[in-house]
Amino acid sequence: MQCTRRVLVRSLGRRPLSTPSLRPDFVEILGERYATDPITNVTPSILSKVPIRLHTQPSHPLNTLRTLIESNFPDFSHLSSFSPVVSPFKNFDELSFPKDHPGRSLTDSYYVNKDLMLRTHTSAHEVEVFREGQTQWLLTADVYRRDEIDGSHYPVFHQMEGARIFEATTQGMKEVEEDNFRLERDLARSNIVIDDIPNLSATNPVQDVHDPVHSELVARNLKLSLNTLMLRLFGGASSKENPLRVRWIEAYFPFTSPSFEVEVFFNGKWLEILGCGVVNQATLDTAGVQGQIGWAFGLGLERIAMVLFGIPDIRLFWSQDQRFLSQFSQGAITTFKSYSKYPACFKDVSFWLPQATNLHENDFCDLVRDAAGDLVEDVKKLDDFVHPKTNRQSLCYRINYRSMDRSLSNEEVNDIQKQVIEKLKTQFGVEIR
Ligand code: DAH
Repeated sequence: MQCTRRVLVRSLGRRPLSTPSLRPDFVEILGERYATDPITNVTPSILSKVPIRLHTQPSHPLNTLRTLIESNFPDFSHLSSFSPVVSPFKNFDELSFPKDHPGRSLTDSYYVNKDLMLRTHTSAHEVEVFREGQTQWLLTADVYRRDEIDGSHYPVFHQMEGARIFEATTQGMKEVEEDNFRLERDLARSNIVIDDIPNLSATNPVQDVHDPVHSELVARNLKLSLNTLMLRLFGGASSKENPLRVRWIEAYFPFTSPSFEVEVFFNGKWLEILGCGVVNQATLDTAGVQGQIGWAFGLGLERIAMVLFGIPDIRLFWSQDQRFLSQFSQGAITTFKSYSKYPACFKDVSFWLPQATNLHENDFCDLVRDAAGDLVEDVKKLDDFVHPKTNRQSLCYRINYRSMDRSLSNEEVNDIQKQVIEKLKTQFGVEIR
Protein backbone atom coordinates (compact mmCIF):
# COMPACT_ATOMS: atom_id res chain seq x y z
CA MET A 1 0.00 0.00 0.00
CA GLN A 2 1.31 3.36 -0.94
CA CYS A 3 1.01 4.84 2.47
CA THR A 4 2.59 2.12 4.52
CA ARG A 5 5.00 0.40 2.16
CA ARG A 6 7.16 3.35 1.30
CA VAL A 7 10.50 3.65 2.92
CA LEU A 8 10.85 7.13 4.26
CA VAL A 9 14.08 7.86 2.49
CA ARG A 10 14.24 10.66 0.01
CA SER A 11 16.91 11.32 -2.49
CA LEU A 12 17.38 13.92 -5.12
CA GLY A 13 18.01 11.12 -7.63
CA ARG A 14 19.11 12.26 -11.05
CA ARG A 15 16.37 11.84 -13.60
CA PRO A 16 16.92 9.66 -16.66
CA LEU A 17 15.61 12.32 -19.02
CA SER A 18 16.74 15.35 -17.08
CA THR A 19 19.79 15.97 -19.21
CA PRO A 20 18.39 18.35 -21.84
CA SER A 21 20.31 16.78 -24.71
CA LEU A 22 18.86 13.35 -23.89
CA ARG A 23 15.32 14.55 -23.46
CA PRO A 24 12.78 14.52 -26.27
CA ASP A 25 10.73 17.74 -26.61
CA PHE A 26 7.52 15.87 -25.95
CA VAL A 27 6.19 12.45 -25.06
CA GLU A 28 3.07 10.91 -26.53
CA ILE A 29 0.61 9.10 -24.29
CA LEU A 30 -2.61 7.60 -25.64
CA GLY A 31 -2.47 9.86 -28.68
CA GLU A 32 -1.87 13.09 -26.72
CA ARG A 33 1.40 15.01 -26.85
CA TYR A 34 2.84 16.38 -23.63
CA ALA A 35 5.76 18.81 -23.49
CA THR A 36 8.65 17.59 -21.37
CA ASP A 37 10.65 19.65 -18.87
CA PRO A 38 13.52 19.02 -16.42
CA ILE A 39 11.10 17.13 -14.16
CA THR A 40 10.19 14.54 -16.80
CA ASN A 41 11.20 11.06 -15.67
CA VAL A 42 8.82 8.77 -17.61
CA THR A 43 10.84 6.35 -19.71
CA PRO A 44 10.05 4.80 -23.11
CA SER A 45 9.77 1.40 -21.47
CA ILE A 46 7.08 2.63 -19.06
CA LEU A 47 5.17 4.57 -21.70
CA SER A 48 5.04 1.47 -23.91
CA LYS A 49 2.86 -0.20 -21.25
CA VAL A 50 0.20 2.51 -21.09
CA PRO A 51 -1.95 1.41 -24.07
CA ILE A 52 -1.97 -2.27 -23.09
CA ARG A 53 -4.62 -2.13 -20.34
CA LEU A 54 -4.30 -5.76 -19.27
CA HIS A 55 -7.42 -5.53 -17.12
CA THR A 56 -9.51 -5.27 -20.28
CA GLN A 57 -7.82 -8.01 -22.34
CA PRO A 58 -10.21 -10.93 -22.90
CA SER A 59 -9.28 -14.06 -20.89
CA HIS A 60 -6.41 -12.35 -19.12
CA PRO A 61 -6.25 -13.34 -15.42
CA LEU A 62 -6.41 -9.66 -14.39
CA ASN A 63 -9.58 -9.23 -16.41
CA THR A 64 -11.13 -12.36 -14.90
CA LEU A 65 -10.26 -11.15 -11.41
CA ARG A 66 -11.73 -7.72 -12.16
CA THR A 67 -15.03 -9.23 -13.33
CA LEU A 68 -15.12 -11.54 -10.32
CA ILE A 69 -14.77 -8.56 -7.99
CA GLU A 70 -17.35 -6.62 -10.00
CA SER A 71 -19.77 -9.53 -9.63
CA ASN A 72 -19.61 -9.07 -5.86
CA PHE A 73 -20.91 -5.51 -6.32
CA PRO A 74 -23.58 -5.98 -9.01
CA ASP A 75 -25.39 -2.70 -8.33
CA PHE A 76 -22.24 -0.58 -8.53
CA SER A 77 -21.09 1.36 -11.62
CA HIS A 78 -18.11 -0.45 -13.12
CA LEU A 79 -15.63 2.06 -14.53
CA SER A 80 -12.37 1.34 -16.31
CA SER A 81 -11.47 3.93 -18.90
CA PHE A 82 -9.76 6.77 -17.06
CA SER A 83 -6.48 8.12 -18.48
CA PRO A 84 -3.43 7.49 -16.27
CA VAL A 85 -2.18 11.06 -16.82
CA VAL A 86 -3.27 13.13 -13.82
CA SER A 87 -2.06 16.20 -11.99
CA PRO A 88 -0.09 15.73 -8.76
CA PHE A 89 -2.90 17.80 -7.23
CA LYS A 90 -5.41 15.13 -8.12
CA ASN A 91 -3.15 12.22 -7.17
CA PHE A 92 -2.15 13.70 -3.80
CA ASP A 93 -3.52 17.09 -2.69
CA GLU A 94 -7.20 16.41 -3.30
CA LEU A 95 -6.79 13.38 -1.06
CA SER A 96 -5.14 15.36 1.74
CA PHE A 97 -1.65 13.90 1.28
CA PRO A 98 0.87 16.05 3.16
CA LYS A 99 3.21 18.22 1.10
CA ASP A 100 6.23 16.17 2.14
CA HIS A 101 4.76 12.72 1.46
CA PRO A 102 7.53 10.53 -0.03
CA GLY A 103 5.19 9.25 -2.76
CA ARG A 104 5.47 12.69 -4.40
CA SER A 105 9.20 12.42 -4.97
CA LEU A 106 10.74 11.92 -8.39
CA THR A 107 12.38 8.74 -7.20
CA ASP A 108 9.02 7.17 -6.30
CA SER A 109 6.67 8.42 -9.03
CA TYR A 110 6.70 8.98 -12.77
CA TYR A 111 6.28 12.57 -13.89
CA VAL A 112 5.33 13.53 -17.45
CA ASN A 113 6.33 17.10 -16.62
CA LYS A 114 6.03 19.40 -13.62
CA ASP A 115 2.23 19.58 -13.93
CA LEU A 116 1.36 16.00 -14.82
CA MET A 117 2.22 12.53 -13.63
CA LEU A 118 1.16 8.91 -14.09
CA ARG A 119 -1.34 8.11 -11.32
CA THR A 120 0.19 6.09 -8.49
CA HIS A 121 -3.16 4.76 -7.27
CA THR A 122 -6.79 4.55 -8.34
CA SER A 123 -7.77 6.79 -5.42
CA ALA A 124 -6.64 9.64 -7.70
CA HIS A 125 -10.07 9.43 -9.36
CA GLU A 126 -12.19 9.46 -6.21
CA VAL A 127 -13.06 13.14 -6.37
CA GLU A 128 -14.00 13.17 -10.04
CA VAL A 129 -16.16 10.05 -9.78
CA PHE A 130 -17.97 11.39 -6.72
CA ARG A 131 -18.34 14.72 -8.53
CA GLU A 132 -20.08 12.89 -11.41
CA GLY A 133 -22.73 11.94 -8.88
CA GLN A 134 -21.82 8.25 -8.60
CA THR A 135 -22.87 6.86 -5.23
CA GLN A 136 -21.58 3.28 -5.53
CA TRP A 137 -18.81 2.48 -7.92
CA LEU A 138 -15.79 0.37 -8.77
CA LEU A 139 -12.93 1.70 -10.87
CA THR A 140 -10.15 -0.43 -12.35
CA ALA A 141 -6.95 1.02 -13.77
CA ASP A 142 -3.25 0.65 -14.39
CA VAL A 143 -1.11 2.52 -11.84
CA TYR A 144 2.56 3.44 -11.92
CA ARG A 145 5.25 3.48 -9.23
CA ARG A 146 9.00 3.52 -9.52
CA ASP A 147 10.36 0.50 -7.75
CA GLU A 148 13.07 -2.06 -7.47
CA ILE A 149 13.11 -5.06 -9.83
CA ASP A 150 12.19 -8.51 -8.57
CA GLY A 151 9.56 -11.23 -9.03
CA SER A 152 6.82 -9.38 -7.16
CA HIS A 153 7.45 -5.74 -8.11
CA TYR A 154 6.72 -4.20 -11.46
CA PRO A 155 6.51 -0.45 -12.11
CA VAL A 156 3.08 -0.82 -13.68
CA PHE A 157 0.36 -2.71 -11.90
CA HIS A 158 -3.42 -2.66 -11.58
CA GLN A 159 -5.68 -1.51 -8.82
CA MET A 160 -9.37 -1.44 -8.14
CA GLU A 161 -11.00 1.29 -6.14
CA GLY A 162 -14.46 0.81 -4.70
CA ALA A 163 -16.66 3.28 -2.87
CA ARG A 164 -20.17 3.69 -1.59
CA ILE A 165 -21.85 6.69 -0.03
CA PHE A 166 -25.09 7.01 1.90
CA GLU A 167 -27.41 9.85 2.93
CA ALA A 168 -26.24 11.01 6.35
CA THR A 169 -29.83 11.05 7.62
CA THR A 170 -31.95 8.81 9.83
CA GLN A 171 -33.50 7.29 6.71
CA GLY A 172 -30.09 6.81 5.07
CA MET A 173 -28.70 5.12 8.16
CA LYS A 174 -31.74 2.86 8.31
CA GLU A 175 -30.78 1.61 4.86
CA VAL A 176 -27.23 0.97 6.04
CA GLU A 177 -28.59 -0.99 8.99
CA GLU A 178 -30.77 -3.10 6.72
CA ASP A 179 -27.87 -3.81 4.41
CA ASN A 180 -25.67 -4.67 7.39
CA PHE A 181 -28.31 -7.04 8.70
CA ARG A 182 -28.52 -8.84 5.34
CA LEU A 183 -24.73 -9.10 4.93
CA GLU A 184 -24.26 -10.27 8.54
CA ARG A 185 -26.88 -12.96 8.11
CA ASP A 186 -25.24 -14.28 4.92
CA LEU A 187 -21.77 -14.25 6.47
CA ALA A 188 -23.03 -16.10 9.54
CA ARG A 189 -24.05 -18.94 7.24
CA SER A 190 -20.63 -19.08 5.57
CA ASN A 191 -17.36 -20.74 6.48
CA ILE A 192 -15.47 -17.63 7.50
CA VAL A 193 -13.76 -16.63 10.74
CA ILE A 194 -13.15 -12.92 11.15
CA ASP A 195 -10.55 -11.50 13.48
CA ASP A 196 -12.08 -8.06 13.98
CA ILE A 197 -11.06 -4.82 15.66
CA PRO A 198 -13.28 -1.95 16.86
CA ASN A 199 -14.82 0.20 14.14
CA LEU A 200 -13.70 3.34 15.98
CA SER A 201 -11.07 3.85 18.65
CA ALA A 202 -8.84 6.54 20.10
CA THR A 203 -6.11 5.62 17.62
CA ASN A 204 -8.48 5.11 14.69
CA PRO A 205 -10.87 7.95 15.29
CA VAL A 206 -14.19 9.13 13.96
CA GLN A 207 -13.84 12.36 11.95
CA ASP A 208 -14.84 15.50 13.87
CA VAL A 209 -17.55 16.29 11.33
CA HIS A 210 -19.14 12.85 11.60
CA ASP A 211 -21.80 11.62 13.95
CA PRO A 212 -20.03 8.65 15.64
CA VAL A 213 -23.18 6.54 15.21
CA HIS A 214 -23.15 7.16 11.45
CA SER A 215 -19.43 6.52 11.15
CA GLU A 216 -19.74 3.28 13.09
CA LEU A 217 -22.56 2.02 10.86
CA VAL A 218 -20.69 2.93 7.68
CA ALA A 219 -17.46 1.28 8.91
CA ARG A 220 -19.52 -1.80 9.74
CA ASN A 221 -21.00 -1.80 6.24
CA LEU A 222 -17.51 -1.48 4.79
CA LYS A 223 -16.24 -4.45 6.78
CA LEU A 224 -19.23 -6.63 5.96
CA SER A 225 -19.02 -5.80 2.25
CA LEU A 226 -15.33 -6.61 2.14
CA ASN A 227 -15.61 -9.78 4.24
CA THR A 228 -18.18 -10.92 1.68
CA LEU A 229 -15.75 -10.06 -1.12
CA MET A 230 -12.94 -12.01 0.59
CA LEU A 231 -15.23 -15.02 0.82
CA ARG A 232 -16.00 -14.78 -2.88
CA LEU A 233 -12.34 -14.51 -3.82
CA PHE A 234 -10.70 -16.88 -1.37
CA GLY A 235 -13.53 -18.96 0.11
CA GLY A 236 -13.70 -21.58 -2.65
CA ALA A 237 -12.01 -24.30 -0.62
CA SER A 238 -13.34 -23.29 2.80
CA SER A 239 -15.35 -25.71 4.92
CA LYS A 240 -16.70 -25.91 8.45
CA GLU A 241 -13.48 -27.57 9.58
CA ASN A 242 -11.33 -25.29 7.53
CA PRO A 243 -12.95 -21.87 7.36
CA LEU A 244 -11.49 -18.86 5.55
CA ARG A 245 -9.64 -16.62 8.02
CA VAL A 246 -9.75 -12.87 7.55
CA ARG A 247 -8.18 -10.32 9.88
CA TRP A 248 -8.70 -6.59 10.22
CA ILE A 249 -5.82 -4.32 11.12
CA GLU A 250 -5.79 -0.68 12.09
CA ALA A 251 -4.17 1.46 9.39
CA TYR A 252 -3.55 5.04 8.41
CA PHE A 253 -4.34 6.72 5.08
CA PRO A 254 -4.44 10.48 4.55
CA PHE A 255 -7.87 10.24 2.93
CA THR A 256 -9.83 8.03 5.35
CA SER A 257 -10.60 7.84 9.05
CA PRO A 258 -11.07 5.36 10.58
CA SER A 259 -8.76 3.32 8.29
CA PHE A 260 -8.12 -0.41 8.01
CA GLU A 261 -6.16 -3.06 6.20
CA VAL A 262 -7.49 -6.52 5.44
CA GLU A 263 -5.43 -9.69 5.45
CA VAL A 264 -6.46 -13.17 4.43
CA PHE A 265 -4.85 -16.46 5.46
CA PHE A 266 -4.23 -18.31 2.21
CA ASN A 267 -1.82 -21.11 1.33
CA GLY A 268 -0.32 -20.98 4.80
CA LYS A 269 0.44 -17.24 4.84
CA TRP A 270 -1.23 -14.00 5.85
CA LEU A 271 -1.66 -11.97 2.69
CA GLU A 272 -2.19 -8.22 2.74
CA ILE A 273 -5.12 -7.61 0.42
CA LEU A 274 -6.38 -4.06 0.63
CA GLY A 275 -6.62 -0.72 2.36
CA CYS A 276 -9.90 0.99 3.18
CA GLY A 277 -11.76 3.32 5.47
CA VAL A 278 -14.45 5.91 5.99
CA VAL A 279 -13.92 8.57 3.31
CA ASN A 280 -12.55 11.88 4.57
CA GLN A 281 -15.36 14.37 4.45
CA ALA A 282 -12.93 16.82 2.79
CA THR A 283 -12.83 14.51 -0.26
CA LEU A 284 -16.61 14.59 -0.60
CA ASP A 285 -16.66 18.35 0.04
CA THR A 286 -14.14 18.87 -2.79
CA ALA A 287 -16.35 16.75 -5.03
CA GLY A 288 -19.34 18.95 -4.15
CA VAL A 289 -21.17 16.05 -2.50
CA GLN A 290 -23.23 17.20 0.43
CA GLY A 291 -25.03 15.42 3.25
CA GLN A 292 -23.44 12.03 2.51
CA ILE A 293 -21.07 9.73 4.35
CA GLY A 294 -19.31 6.74 2.86
CA TRP A 295 -16.52 4.22 2.60
CA ALA A 296 -13.82 3.41 0.08
CA PHE A 297 -11.26 0.70 -0.51
CA GLY A 298 -8.36 0.07 -2.88
CA LEU A 299 -6.74 -3.22 -3.79
CA GLY A 300 -3.92 -4.41 -6.03
CA LEU A 301 -5.00 -6.97 -8.63
CA GLU A 302 -1.61 -8.60 -9.36
CA ARG A 303 -0.95 -9.62 -5.82
CA ILE A 304 -4.32 -11.35 -5.56
CA ALA A 305 -4.11 -12.88 -9.04
CA MET A 306 -0.63 -14.28 -8.30
CA VAL A 307 -2.00 -16.38 -5.45
CA LEU A 308 -5.37 -17.27 -7.00
CA PHE A 309 -3.88 -18.38 -10.34
CA GLY A 310 -0.53 -19.54 -8.93
CA ILE A 311 1.42 -17.14 -11.12
CA PRO A 312 4.97 -17.10 -9.72
CA ASP A 313 6.46 -13.99 -11.39
CA ILE A 314 4.74 -10.64 -11.86
CA ARG A 315 6.30 -10.21 -15.33
CA LEU A 316 4.22 -13.14 -16.61
CA PHE A 317 1.12 -10.90 -16.64
CA TRP A 318 2.78 -9.04 -19.52
CA SER A 319 3.74 -12.16 -21.45
CA GLN A 320 2.58 -12.43 -25.05
CA ASP A 321 3.55 -16.10 -25.10
CA GLN A 322 0.69 -18.43 -26.07
CA ARG A 323 1.94 -20.91 -23.49
CA PHE A 324 0.88 -18.34 -20.92
CA LEU A 325 -2.16 -16.75 -22.56
CA SER A 326 -3.76 -19.97 -23.81
CA GLN A 327 -3.94 -21.35 -20.28
CA PHE A 328 -6.66 -18.91 -19.27
CA SER A 329 -10.25 -18.42 -20.27
CA GLN A 330 -12.51 -15.56 -19.34
CA GLY A 331 -14.19 -15.96 -15.98
CA ALA A 332 -12.34 -19.09 -14.87
CA ILE A 333 -9.79 -19.25 -12.07
CA THR A 334 -7.36 -21.97 -13.06
CA THR A 335 -3.91 -22.80 -11.75
CA PHE A 336 -1.05 -21.76 -13.97
CA LYS A 337 1.18 -24.62 -15.06
CA SER A 338 4.74 -23.39 -15.31
CA TYR A 339 6.40 -24.14 -18.56
CA SER A 340 10.12 -24.70 -18.47
CA LYS A 341 12.07 -21.90 -16.88
CA TYR A 342 14.83 -20.73 -19.16
CA PRO A 343 18.32 -20.29 -17.76
CA ALA A 344 19.20 -17.06 -16.00
CA CYS A 345 22.34 -15.13 -16.74
CA PHE A 346 23.73 -12.57 -14.37
CA LYS A 347 26.09 -9.71 -15.04
CA ASP A 348 27.69 -7.43 -12.49
CA VAL A 349 28.50 -3.81 -13.03
CA SER A 350 30.71 -1.73 -10.68
CA PHE A 351 31.29 1.94 -11.08
CA TRP A 352 32.31 5.21 -9.45
CA LEU A 353 29.73 7.98 -9.36
CA PRO A 354 30.96 11.51 -10.04
CA GLN A 355 31.41 13.48 -6.83
CA ALA A 356 28.21 14.82 -5.25
CA THR A 357 26.04 12.74 -7.54
CA ASN A 358 23.34 10.57 -6.18
CA LEU A 359 22.01 7.52 -8.03
CA HIS A 360 18.80 6.21 -6.51
CA GLU A 361 18.18 2.48 -6.86
CA ASN A 362 14.95 3.25 -8.75
CA ASP A 363 16.91 5.34 -11.27
CA PHE A 364 19.23 2.43 -11.81
CA CYS A 365 16.31 0.03 -12.25
CA ASP A 366 14.57 2.26 -14.80
CA LEU A 367 17.81 2.56 -16.73
CA VAL A 368 18.15 -1.24 -16.81
CA ARG A 369 14.53 -1.62 -17.86
CA ASP A 370 15.04 0.77 -20.74
CA ALA A 371 17.86 -1.42 -22.03
CA ALA A 372 16.45 -4.84 -21.17
CA GLY A 373 12.65 -4.48 -21.03
CA ASP A 374 11.11 -7.57 -19.43
CA LEU A 375 14.32 -9.59 -19.88
CA VAL A 376 15.52 -8.35 -16.52
CA GLU A 377 14.36 -10.58 -13.69
CA ASP A 378 15.91 -8.86 -10.75
CA VAL A 379 18.47 -6.31 -9.70
CA LYS A 380 20.44 -6.47 -6.47
CA LYS A 381 22.89 -4.06 -4.95
CA LEU A 382 26.02 -6.02 -4.02
CA ASP A 383 28.20 -3.25 -2.76
CA ASP A 384 28.05 0.42 -1.84
CA PHE A 385 30.88 2.41 -0.29
CA VAL A 386 32.37 5.88 -0.25
CA HIS A 387 36.10 6.25 -0.83
CA PRO A 388 37.50 7.92 2.32
CA LYS A 389 39.93 10.13 0.40
CA THR A 390 38.12 11.10 -2.80
CA ASN A 391 34.67 10.99 -1.24
CA ARG A 392 33.41 9.29 -4.39
CA GLN A 393 30.73 6.63 -4.09
CA SER A 394 31.29 3.21 -5.59
CA LEU A 395 28.34 0.96 -6.41
CA CYS A 396 28.10 -2.57 -7.63
CA TYR A 397 24.88 -4.11 -8.93
CA ARG A 398 24.11 -7.63 -10.04
CA ILE A 399 21.58 -7.79 -12.87
CA ASN A 400 19.84 -11.08 -13.41
CA TYR A 401 18.62 -11.56 -16.99
CA ARG A 402 16.11 -14.20 -17.92
CA SER A 403 13.43 -14.45 -20.56
CA MET A 404 10.18 -16.10 -19.60
CA ASP A 405 9.66 -17.26 -23.17
CA ARG A 406 12.99 -18.40 -24.60
CA SER A 407 16.70 -18.97 -24.01
CA LEU A 408 18.80 -15.83 -24.15
CA SER A 409 22.07 -16.05 -26.03
CA ASN A 410 25.22 -14.86 -24.36
CA GLU A 411 25.66 -12.34 -27.15
CA GLU A 412 22.25 -10.84 -26.61
CA VAL A 413 22.84 -10.45 -22.86
CA ASN A 414 26.27 -8.93 -23.44
CA ASP A 415 24.70 -6.52 -25.83
CA ILE A 416 22.08 -5.43 -23.30
CA GLN A 417 24.75 -5.11 -20.61
CA LYS A 418 26.74 -2.88 -22.96
CA GLN A 419 23.71 -0.65 -23.36
CA VAL A 420 23.29 -0.48 -19.58
CA ILE A 421 26.91 0.64 -19.25
CA GLU A 422 26.54 3.21 -22.04
CA LYS A 423 23.44 4.65 -20.38
CA LEU A 424 25.22 4.81 -17.01
CA LYS A 425 28.02 6.76 -18.63
CA THR A 426 25.92 9.18 -20.65
CA GLN A 427 23.12 9.76 -18.14
CA PHE A 428 25.06 9.69 -14.89
CA GLY A 429 28.68 10.24 -15.93
CA VAL A 430 29.90 7.17 -14.07
CA GLU A 431 33.35 5.68 -14.34
CA ILE A 432 33.22 1.92 -14.82
CA ARG A 433 35.57 0.06 -12.46
N1 DAH B 1 -4.80 4.12 -2.54
C1 DAH B 1 -4.25 3.27 -1.50
C2 DAH B 1 -2.94 2.67 -1.98
O1 DAH B 1 -2.67 2.63 -3.14
C3 DAH B 1 -5.21 2.17 -1.12
C4 DAH B 1 -6.44 2.67 -0.45
C5 DAH B 1 -6.46 2.80 0.93
C6 DAH B 1 -7.57 3.02 -1.17
C7 DAH B 1 -7.59 3.24 1.58
C8 DAH B 1 -8.72 3.48 -0.53
C9 DAH B 1 -8.71 3.58 0.85
O2 DAH B 1 -9.83 3.85 -1.18
O3 DAH B 1 -9.85 4.00 1.46
O4 DAH B 1 -2.17 2.22 -1.18
